[in-house]
Amino acid sequence: MRVDLGNALSTTPGVSESSLERLDEQVAAAHETIESGRADAEHGYAALNLPDTADPDAIRSAVEPFDSPDAVVTVGIGGSALGAATLSSALSEPSDPDAYYLDNVDPERVTCLLSTLDLSETVVNVVSRSGTTAETLSNFLVVREAMDDAGVDWTDRTFVTTGEEGNLRNLAEKHDLPSLPVPDGVPGRFSALSTVGLAVSAIQGHDLEALLAGARAESERLSGSLFESPAYAYGAASYALANRGALTNAMMPYSEDLEYFAEWFAQLWAESLGKDGLGQTPARALGATDQHSQLQLYRAGPRDKLVTLVRPTEREDRAIPETDLEGLSYLGGSSLGELLDAEFEATEASLAAAGVPSVRIEIDAVDERGLGELLYGMEAACVLYGELAGVSTFTQPAVEWGKRAARGLLGGGDFEEAEAVSEKTHLI
Ligand code: PA5
Repeated sequence: MRVDLGNALSTTPGVSESSLERLDEQVAAAHETIESGRADAEHGYAALNLPDTADPDAIRSAVEPFDSPDAVVTVGIGGSALGAATLSSALSEPSDPDAYYLDNVDPERVTCLLSTLDLSETVVNVVSRSGTTAETLSNFLVVREAMDDAGVDWTDRTFVTTGEEGNLRNLAEKHDLPSLPVPDGVPGRFSALSTVGLAVSAIQGHDLEALLAGARAESERLSGSLFESPAYAYGAASYALANRGALTNAMMPYSEDLEYFAEWFAQLWAESLGKDGLGQTPARALGATDQHSQLQLYRAGPRDKLVTLVRPTEREDRAIPETDLEGLSYLGGSSLGELLDAEFEATEASLAAAGVPSVRIEIDAVDERGLGELLYGMEAACVLYGELAGVSTFTQPAVEWGKRAARGLLGGGDFEEAEAVSEKTHLI
């Protein structure tokens, strides 16, 4: 992974090189804290050890009973779904089992998906670290009923990824379901490179070792200086820009395969860093599509944004046919990939010309290695940002509040948060 901060230096907001040099002292201190947390496998920091602690063989063995299904449906939400979704949407080939995600509990979507699948050829991957999340368990109960109704033995088609205790672990033990543990110390949104994120990739036959090798390469570049580590460069620059007013971070990959990556990044950034009145609001965009919509705002709207432009430098290309159509001959002989690169560079130049900060992130290709680098790099950037900001990166009290309130409303426990929901306002 390569990070270029050049277009964030003399912009508004912007960071000067000298301010980054001053910030580097804090980066060195933060790096020591991170390294000590990793050495002790403390909660959250343990996620940065996954390139060395994840066990691809164990993951492949757990999913081995499900040889070549038509589809795999992951039932999970938030960090229990987004890592796997990012990987499968980027890496899936037409010959792979289709990967679907039931995260939301929208009844129409659930019914529609279940009606399109051959459930006897579908594997259900139920993922919940806590084993108590209402959306996940409800969706699972619905899927299980649909399998019963279709005469499919759900216990033959289901595997579970969960913590050592909880409702889901009990269910897996009761029915002797294949299961994987969620590793200790790895919060949901940092679990893409663990059992949580990698099981679907294993079913789809992707190269888990290459994913972890990409992540490991990025981990080996973490050092006490932002000038030596692309991940820290991005984390430190984002932090410095947020302090100077860039309160929105628009993540804009130039690759359809990375569209889900922006969604994953949004969760990582928002849920980890949105604390104590601080944080940087992630916005999801896609190049070149959003050049024709959001870019207007990014360039000419409030000066409160950082735009992060991500691209692979290699991709399969497709030629644009020659044409004698008037005014279009310049396209012929070129390619869609060249056009997409031109759009990327034009957007970057357009933002720079308007003095809007952008950061360029490149990987060689959207393959296992590149994704390992990118996901790990963003996680390390996020952990560094959290250290610099002094927030509790690995907790999510606001998310937990909402979970308890929803459970309380459904009668799932005596949660005081549910009482706050009943205090209605009188809007007209
Ligand atoms: O990052 C997080 O901690 C959350 O997004 C969780 O992953 C999400 O709430 C799902 O929780 P669980 O895995 O316990 O079902």
